[in-house]
Amino acid sequence: MSKKIIAVMGATGAQGGGLVRAIQNDAGGGFTARALTRNAGSDKAKELARLGAEVVQTDIDDPASLTAAFAGAHGAYCVTFFWEHFSPEREQAEAASMARAAKQAGLQHVIWSTLEDTRKWVPLSDNRMPTLAGKYKVPHFDGKGEADRVFTDNDMPVTFLLTSFYWDNFIHFGMGPKPGLDGKLAITLPMGNKKLPGIAAEDIGKCAYGIFQRGVEYTGKTVGIAGEHLTGDRMAAALSAALGRPVSYNAVSPEVYRGFGFPGADDLGNMFQFKRDFEDYFCGARSPEFSRSLNPGLQTFDTWLGRNRAALLATLE
Ligand SMILES: NC(=O)c1ccc[n+]([C@@H]2O[C@H](COP(=O)([O-])OP(=O)(O)OC[C@H]3O[C@@H](n4cnc5c(N)ncnc54)[C@H](OP(=O)(O)O)[C@@H]3O)[C@@H](O)[C@H]2O)c1
Repeated sequence: MSKKIIAVMGATGAQGGGLVRAIQNDAGGGFTARALTRNAGSDKAKELARLGAEVVQTDIDDPASLTAAFAGAHGAYCVTFFWEHFSPEREQAEAASMARAAKQAGLQHVIWSTLEDTRKWVPLSDNRMPTLAGKYKVPHFDGKGEADRVFTDNDMPVTFLLTSFYWDNFIHFGMGPKPGLDGKLAITLPMGNKKLPGIAAEDIGKCAYGIFQRGVEYTGKTVGIAGEHLTGDRMAAALSAALGRPVSYNAVSPEVYRGFGFPGADDLGNMFQFKRDFEDYFCGARSPEFSRSLNPGLQTFDTWLGRNRAALLATLE
């Protein structure tokens, strides 16, 4: 029997890469991945080809390439890349292009990697956090959440997948332990004593694979995933144990975090404030137990730390 093709946007990246590997490592699973990348000749693309994935050159901003990329597929994993351009409008245009291409290809299952439109909880008139770019509270969330409707409007068999903070941000996104003025290591987050849902980035694709396997059970539904919900203190304690050096949690206010001045600090400051102020909702929407039902190998923070100790230590050098 021929295998069902899943076209995977962002295949050389964190979310899409995990999905391609999950599909290709399950030889008897009935699926095969079509890895979409702008550069089929990159080392990462060649590695996916080595796993047996079909690598197809695609640019998310080129609608004709998307139509070709989705043709003949059973399903598609759709994700946008906010941190490449910082534009929610561009993410929405890209989501609309993917929804159109999916409709044209008659896909039977689309997963849209989305996040909340936080303006449903914090309207622009609410001054507890600043409005950004004139019409957003958390631009990289709101743009994705607003784009949900392009899939609904196209009457699509879609699963809306709410992802969580990647623990990999402690390695790749500059959020890891850093020495303070006293030389002692600390992680800095504006979460107070509230819990932050987190996940090993690789597990997002594995959970998405579980959703594709279950098919119609999850079309038309919103599902959220996380590996664990942890406070800053709990993450600092786990980091201390893994690194063999004391790490503390530096709980700053969202105002202070927004003022750090790196690109996107205001967006992230608002994001953490949203997660802090709506902890019950935000954690409730991302069940680790449900995530483990999709992906039995779901990593806990301690498991992830054990596998990434060397990379974390390298950030301290
Ligand atoms: N960091 C977090 O904690 C977190 C949590 C939840 C959600 N997110 C969201 O995750 C999204 C990013 O996903 P990710 O982390 O999986 O991405 P990623 O690891 O940064 O990789 C993205 C991949 O997308 C490809 N890409 C970039 N621009 C492209 C384009 N124009 N056309 C086609 N492919 C393109 C690149 O592949 P090629 O170079 O091979 O083309 C790249 O390898 C963001 O929108 C972010 O808001 C992040």
